[in-house]
Amino acid sequence: MDKHIEVMISEKEINTRICELAEQINKDYAGKELHLIVILKGSVFFACELAKRITVPVTLDFMAVSSYGDGMVSAGKITVKKELDEDIRGKDVLIVEDIIDSGNTLFHLKNLLLARNPESLKIITLLDKPERRTADIQSDYCGFNIPDKFVVGYGLDHAQKYRNLPYIGVVQD
Ligand code: IMP
Ligand code: MG
Repeated sequence: MDKHIEVMISEKEINTRICELAEQINKDYAGKELHLIVILKGSVFFACELAKRITVPVTLDFMAVSSYGDGMVSAGKITVKKELDEDIRGKDVLIVEDIIDSGNTLFHLKNLLLARNPESLKIITLLDKPERRTADIQSDYCGFNIPDKFVVGYGLDHAQKYRNLPYIGVVQD
């Protein structure tokens, strides 16, 4: 049976925050084109809502990297499971992440993508758990800082479940 989920951030709060983030991005990238790199699978829900509110021209690409398995412990290094379709050389790239936890995934991903010579490379994350950070990495745009709790919903999973919840919640034991 499904476990009880306690709401941490409501759908309404998330939508409001995404509008604010999009407004900021529209200002920061005025007159430019933005290439969004969506990190599968968790970031898809966030990326769709964000992209719909961005008014500068947007292109999209997707990448899958290994992070957690079905458990709750982070792998030390990333493996690319799905490569980008397009070259990012000379593009203004924004990596769209669901959550930064240890920061390992993004630390390695950022270095990997920087080596491909984009014009610029920034990071947006819906959620950040700053207390958990071990890698030297920060986002340029962040939806919410959250406490050190394992969250699900709005794209985030526990053992591949709960991604479709329209809010961010905590699985109750
Ligand atoms: P990091 O490399 O430790 O920063 O982990 C980043 C990845 O771990 C995210 O993209 C998520 O896929 C996963 N992750 C980290 N914390 C959570 C959580 O609370 N719920 C669900 N997935 C998480
Ligand atoms: Mg994940």
